[in-house]
Amino acid sequence: MRLLASSLLFSAAVASPLIERAAKPIYWLLAGDSTTAPAGGWGDGFLSTTVASGSTGHNYGHGGATTASFRAGGDWGKVIKDIGTYKSKYDVYTTIQFGHNDQKETSGVTLDQYKANLLKFAQEVTSAGGQPILLTPLTRRNFQSNGKVLENLATQRNITTQVATSNNIKWIDLNIASVNYVNALGKTAASKYNLASDDWTHLNTWGGVVFARIVSDLLVEKYPSNFQAYTKANATLSALIKAGKPA
Ligand SMILES: *[C@@H]1O[C@H](CO)[C@@H](O)[C@H](O)[C@H]1NC(C)=O
Ligand SMILES: *[C@@H]1O[C@H](CO)[C@@H](O)[C@H](O)[C@H]1NC(C)=O
Repeated sequence: MRLLASSLLFSAAVASPLIERAAKPIYWLLAGDSTTAPAGGWGDGFLSTTVASGSTGHNYGHGGATTASFRAGGDWGKVIKDIGTYKSKYDVYTTIQFGHNDQKETSGVTLDQYKANLLKFAQEVTSAGGQPILLTPLTRRNFQSNGKVLENLATQRNITTQVATSNNIKWIDLNIASVNYVNALGKTAASKYNLASDDWTHLNTWGGVVFARIVSDLLVEKYPSNFQAYTKANATLSALIKAGKPA
């Protein structure tokens, strides 16, 4: 009995700082290529429609970025600097989503380098006092003659997943979730999210909102204690996505 009482006291004592920490709102830093960036990606839709009042963030997505150029061009330094700036007032989460440009033959980034660069990004976020989240790359929406989307980021999906699971890093499988959704929609309905009629990679403004909701739903479902309280839900949109219906 005494033992039980003291262990209860002990857990109450260690639990309270955790509760205080969980009560901080979130500062989101979004690192990635054009499929995250403003005007073509899901990042702005994420910040403007899924983040609850009190939390906020910045979209550092950069068109054409690889895991190498994002660092070399200075974007990554800004992400790390922002973690330092915001970590006292917020829990700072950094999403890391690359692959579309790394995979191009001209990128100069090998698969081994892609893997090492993702891990280094995640480790540096942690060292700076933030929390990394790896995202497998958003699918392109190029359909094959069999009516299914071409899964040409599967290797990058695998590598991102491996980096996360073998290093205990938070991650979500945006690649497979977006593949499943656009396969359920089919080519005609999926084309409604194209930035231009023949651009099957980038998203228009509404497409950004829809795919941002997929990102948000994956985060809340997998890590509810971290994200649910800081997320603005849209049950209608989430239900349409889950049902594989056009939103
Ligand atoms: C991805 O990983 C799975 C399971 O490890 C494997 O079956 C599949 O062939 C891999 N795909 C690619 C494209 O690397
Ligand atoms: C929620 O989703 C529905 C269905 O897609 C959409 O019509 C509506 O504008 C969204 N509501 C908000 C507040 O974003």
